[in-house]
Amino acid sequence: MSDAGVSTEPITIAVLGGGTVGAEVVRQIGAQEADFASRVGAPLQITGVAVRDAAKSRPGIDPSLLTTEPLALASSGADIVVEVMGGIETARECILAAMAAGSSVVTANKALLAADGASLYAAAAQYGVDLYFEASVAGAIPLLRPLRESLAGDRVLAVLGIVNGTTNFILSQMDERGADYADVLREAQDLGYAEADPTADVEGHDAAAKAAILAELAFHTRVTGSQVSCEGISAVTLADVEAARQMGFVIKLLAVAERAFDAEGNDEGVIVRVHPAMVPREHPLASVRDAFNAVFVVAESAGEMMFYGRGAGGQPTASAVLGDVIAAARNRVAGGLGPGESVYAELPVLPLERATTRYYVNLDVADRPGVLATIAQAFADNGVSIQVVRQDGHGEDAGLVLRTHKATDGALARTIESLSGMDAVKQVVGVMRVEGEAGP
Ligand code: NAP
Ligand code: HSE
Repeated sequence: MSDAGVSTEPITIAVLGGGTVGAEVVRQIGAQEADFASRVGAPLQITGVAVRDAAKSRPGIDPSLLTTEPLALASSGADIVVEVMGGIETARECILAAMAAGSSVVTANKALLAADGASLYAAAAQYGVDLYFEASVAGAIPLLRPLRESLAGDRVLAVLGIVNGTTNFILSQMDERGADYADVLREAQDLGYAEADPTADVEGHDAAAKAAILAELAFHTRVTGSQVSCEGISAVTLADVEAARQMGFVIKLLAVAERAFDAEGNDEGVIVRVHPAMVPREHPLASVRDAFNAVFVVAESAGEMMFYGRGAGGQPTASAVLGDVIAAARNRVAGGLGPGESVYAELPVLPLERATTRYYVNLDVADRPGVLATIAQAFADNGVSIQVVRQDGHGEDAGLVLRTHKATDGALARTIESLSGMDAVKQVVGVMRVEGEAGP
């Protein structure tokens, strides 16, 4: 030990990935060397950085650390392996090899955690190492540690939020300056927000993986990405954005994880979904712009909480990764371990048709007497109550915009099926869920 209580024996760190996030992690470990050593009680020493292309210029990274052999680096027995490569197969192989070699693992890889978190947790328990993944959901925002540790004495009822920076950036730019979808997506890629394959962002898979991780931690129940009902924003048009604006709403890609109860208040299961939704402009989520994320957590005793911050980008994400690195390093120094998996509740994951929300329905209709009554009857027949109806245009150009009270997804789907078969309805132009309004 030195005079300042810092061990001279370093905590060694192998970094798999030197891209947007990895490069920033490496730079910060160098830039904050003395502070990190004091916070941990030992210096942090990077033993290698795995990349695909070792010849690429990487400012701030010592070229002698670069390797194109991630598995060898992962298996080298470093105290901590940081996995920020992304992808599934190589990342899983490397993480499992790292744990088998006795390394604690910090990862930002929500896709892998949502696909096969169980294997990673099992290996962490088997080899007595830490598995931390704060950066995997909502970038810089401290969210998983509060769910896993601070709220461990409460019962979480629902988690609802904006957890994908790329899509929030795109939707914000479409709303604020009528920007073209493809142009803004390119901008989000240039800013380092998007995944290597941005389809994961725009089709909702990235948000679905995050929703699965949040649901698992919130409800102590294993949830995989494939159990999350998922719809992205690629079908959202400027016309939808404009229609939302005219009604006082803004469109957001929401991730929702909620408990479902029976009439007696007993737990029936959980529902986890990702989809675009209209949110009232006065709702706090409506003001979450650009690549920012925000997550509402509703817990039985604590009530409503909102976590807000930067959800993507190299520096914000590196902040969360480094928080985990310091936690794992402190555990090494103290000789302890962080919390493991908690899935004892084993609640069933229920289908989307059990979800209850409000809807916006836009119909292209024939403008003649009796049409509105016929359409209203289709809603009534399926148990869906109408809240507001507005007719736009007349004659051949007539359009009906309806908003419903709360109904199940199943009831709304059956209503849309009936409407689609009617002579009076030329086209179902748009259907979108409405979230964040109080009342029935
Ligand atoms: P990225 O910029 O594409 O960087 C990936 C890095 O991994 C690159 O350095 C790449 O090498 C290296 N790599 C990939 N496959 C490899 C392989 N098979 N062997 C060796 N090296 C390999 O990705 P990123 O944006 O940093 O994201 C990394 C991870 O963090 C992903 O899991 C992502 O989902 C997650 N994440 C990202 C953000 C964000 O805002 N970017 C936020 C939260 C979480 P080359 O440089 O040679 O190509
Ligand atoms: N592609 C992700 C996003 C990165 O846009 O939110 C952060 O996880």
